[in-house]
Amino acid sequence: MEALSAADIGLILDTADSLKSISARDIKKAPTLRGKSVVNFFYEPSTRTKSSFEIAAKRLSADTFSLSASSSSMVKGETLLDTARNLQAMSPDVIVLRHSSSGAPYVFAKEVKAAVINAGDGINEHPTQALLDLYTIREKKGSIEGLKVVIMGDIAHSRVARSDIIGLLKMGAHVTVAGPPTLIPKGIEAMGVSVAKDPALAVKDCDVVMLLRVQFERQSKLLFPSIREYGTYFGLNENMLKGAKQDVIVMHPGPLNRGVEISNGVADGPYSVILDQVANGVAVRMAVLYLLIGGAKSDNVD
Ligand code: CP
Repeated sequence: MEALSAADIGLILDTADSLKSISARDIKKAPTLRGKSVVNFFYEPSTRTKSSFEIAAKRLSADTFSLSASSSSMVKGETLLDTARNLQAMSPDVIVLRHSSSGAPYVFAKEVKAAVINAGDGINEHPTQALLDLYTIREKKGSIEGLKVVIMGDIAHSRVARSDIIGLLKMGAHVTVAGPPTLIPKGIEAMGVSVAKDPALAVKDCDVVMLLRVQFERQSKLLFPSIREYGTYFGLNENMLKGAKQDVIVMHPGPLNRGVEISNGVADGPYSVILDQVANGVAVRMAVLYLLIGGAKSDNVD
């Protein structure tokens, strides 16, 4: 998201708009990427991003191949660079990479001719998640500029938070982050966000609440007293949501920890757009693939 301008983001969202209808057809396929091949290499677990990229590529008629860490020769000691060189030797057009190390997609991109898409790298970025979040906000609210957006949860370990903050600010939203002080990076205000100590005050009059799960897998020790206490103070429930604007939307990138950062009532309630985010992820990833390897925007996408 660092590298994209507001105009670039607008182009991706507009392209996703024109591709979204393919998923509503009886025959969910367009020939746009016929003859192109997409490798999904996920070194960390994924439900949404991996299946979404695979479905997006298939809906545009690309050939897809998926590789996970446990089924790759990295478990036998092969390095990331050698893995990149060997995948490139098979001439894919795109490699979608998720990795636990921040910067891994940039290392890959230097090594291969294929376009490399970052599907989440360590605690650095998760750009296609941010793009689908921006798409969903624009779809629900008409525009992003001037909206009051609260991102609540484990900001310190969240690549989604970083990418969303960068994207939201570029599109003119006002962003507040909230969470336990130990999960808010020191100096985050320099990114252009406000920090709220009181989650109820943060949510007051906001247009969008984005919740993040606590990333236990990236913490060597628990950075707050207990999960129960976290849920009591920072979990979004229907009562806290009453302070938000009447047409507030609640977002979450998934996976949800129900009863911790979000109550069942909010997750499944009328303000939740969580499954719309997942649906929009396919359209946004189709757009990213199309813009990278499908030719000019004016090409026929039918
Ligand atoms: N939002 C997201 O990245 O979910 P997955 O980890 O399931 O891909």
